[in-house]
Amino acid sequence: MHFVAIAIDGPAASGKSSVARRVAEHFGFLFINSGAMYRAFTWWVLENRVNPSDATAVLSLLQRSRFECGLQGRESIIRIDGRAVTEDFMRREDVNASVSTIAAIPEVRRALVAQQQHFCSMGDLVMEGRDIGTVVIPETPYKFYLDASAEVRVRRRRAQGIDDNIRDRDLKDSSRDTAPLRPADDAQRIDTSHLTLEEVTEKVIQTLHVEGVRRREPPRQVMSWVYNLTYALCKAFFGIAYAMEVHHAERARIPGGAYFASNHASFLDPPLVGTALEEPIFYLARNTLFKPPIFSWLLPRLNTVPVDRDNAELSSLRVSMQIVKEGKKMVVFPEGTRTPDGSLQPAQRGVGMLVAKTGVPVIPVRIFGSFEAFPRTSKFPKLDGKIHVVFGHPIHFSEEELTAKGKAGQQVISDRVMQAIASLTVPDGTS
Ligand code: DC
Repeated sequence: MHFVAIAIDGPAASGKSSVARRVAEHFGFLFINSGAMYRAFTWWVLENRVNPSDATAVLSLLQRSRFECGLQGRESIIRIDGRAVTEDFMRREDVNASVSTIAAIPEVRRALVAQQQHFCSMGDLVMEGRDIGTVVIPETPYKFYLDASAEVRVRRRRAQGIDDNIRDRDLKDSSRDTAPLRPADDAQRIDTSHLTLEEVTEKVIQTLHVEGVRRREPPRQVMSWVYNLTYALCKAFFGIAYAMEVHHAERARIPGGAYFASNHASFLDPPLVGTALEEPIFYLARNTLFKPPIFSWLLPRLNTVPVDRDNAELSSLRVSMQIVKEGKKMVVFPEGTRTPDGSLQPAQRGVGMLVAKTGVPVIPVRIFGSFEAFPRTSKFPKLDGKIHVVFGHPIHFSEEELTAKGKAGQQVISDRVMQAIASLTVPDGTS
């Protein structure tokens, strides 16, 4: 596991959601509510008029539905077949009544646990639920189990005005065969019956502090006036000369370190990716480029990091890993060199190695038109034509892909990245 993961489990109305959200805010971590996933799917089952007790029908619905778990800011969101599942849907009375039945189906759990484990590759997080410490992330040393007497929990739900038969739900959740609600052996248990929300939150934060968990400061973004000015000039130039259009920039808005992996056809590509984004990113350049005094002054202010020419491979790898580990983003070109003829070239192993060693996600980028504007055979760019920059969905690699052994495993990652770049097209309706 590359990120810190904190597990908070407990029965209904034990206070775990509120505490988990506050702990996540305190440390600047992601907050993942696993119960929301079971609730979202339960809502979908009811919406499709499938009987929750008919496991075969429920599974068939699961198989034909597209279940997407993503992040909005620092919290998890869920879409099923493209529909956003809102809090109102998930808190409905009929969802409360059926969610434990759905959550007891082993295949449903398997699918949702895989999604929950996937979040662990996206950043430091606090995840709350019933089986987080026992099944989802049993390897984490940071586990809490919150509890409270049944009377107190029923009172809390009533005070929230929610009609929820929690005794019934708790019984089902703790007596099911697969991943029943129970504290992990190494979880710290906290009885919240007579504690306020603030007191419980403080207790959890204190424990984590003692165990060495620290607030993740947002990386200090180097955004000097030089970067700002160059950014504005490049953006204006690309706009005027090439009517540059950016598609799906929202896909690039993910927290933490990541690589932008772009096709490479021209010297224009690094500034094209940089100006297509809202946040500053990092670039690599041979250290010989830093020789002229103007460049040795300018390039560092443009977040460009020198790599040693004599030892380019090792030095660039080390620097590229360091940057994303600090939570920053950088652009890499999996093909290694600019294309000689405008077509995509096979990916080199380098990007696979970076990903395998850092575990960060990759955002594929495809640039259209930069070859026509400024191919490697030209000394100067042509000042016409059209440029599109298209971002793909972030690729989060599975633990299995990241730990696949040797050069072949790294090449598999590189190839997957290149395929994702190749699959990007300019959306319909744009010129
Ligand atoms: O946390 P919650 O009350 O929103 O969870 C709703 C239901 O989802 C809960 O009754 C059981 C199920 N659940 C689960 O089985 N495993 C989890 N990790 C989280 C929730």
